[in-house]
Amino acid sequence: MKFFIDTANLDHIREANDLGILDGVTTNPSLMAKEGIKGQENILKHYVDICNIVDGDVSAEVIATDFEGMIKEGEALAELHPQIVVKIPMIKDGIKAIRYLTDKGIKTNCTLVFSAGQAILAAKAGATYVSPFIGRLDDISFDGVELIEQIVNIYNLHGFPTEVLAASIRNSMHIIKCAEAGADVVTCPLEPIMGLLSHPLTDSGLAKFLADHNK
Ligand code: E4P
Repeated sequence: MKFFIDTANLDHIREANDLGILDGVTTNPSLMAKEGIKGQENILKHYVDICNIVDGDVSAEVIATDFEGMIKEGEALAELHPQIVVKIPMIKDGIKAIRYLTDKGIKTNCTLVFSAGQAILAAKAGATYVSPFIGRLDDISFDGVELIEQIVNIYNLHGFPTEVLAASIRNSMHIIKCAEAGADVVTCPLEPIMGLLSHPLTDSGLAKFLADHNK
């Protein structure tokens, strides 16, 4: 299973990368805005900065919502750096754009996926990744992890190569449940990743080992 960090914060990306467990980064327009990255030039430079920190796929989202706009933006994003994956929303023109970019050899991440039907379309269009948003489903009383299981089963059954990228992860338990469900990738902020580290028995066990050593 690959681990991506879901942030545009360069310090958080560096911290996760320094752990030696990071396989890539996902961003979205809200995450970019949260870091105060504004204006096309700054946005593009920020994607390159991210690519220069981590050795792996970096998802950069298009803003256009029409086919022509999405492919134009997608091609420009892909030109920025070989690690860029073009993130395209799950809408009708988005599916067409994924097919077009895939045929051009450009990697894509189909975002804002909330159903198995949408995931089937993304795979048929040739998306490199499909991003089901599990936290947002949980927020409205649907089981996000169940959707991951369903998509993983369908893709395995039919041999779709699209990777299931579990997104909108809110806590460490989500990561574990997505790993159990067979997600190819989880993407989450730094906190749930660090949350995996903690166990009180590790802390008390280490304290005892050190105390005994010093006796
Ligand atoms: C990542 O690809 C998604 O854009 C992100 O995980 C969404 O997370 P949120 O639902 O916490 O905003």
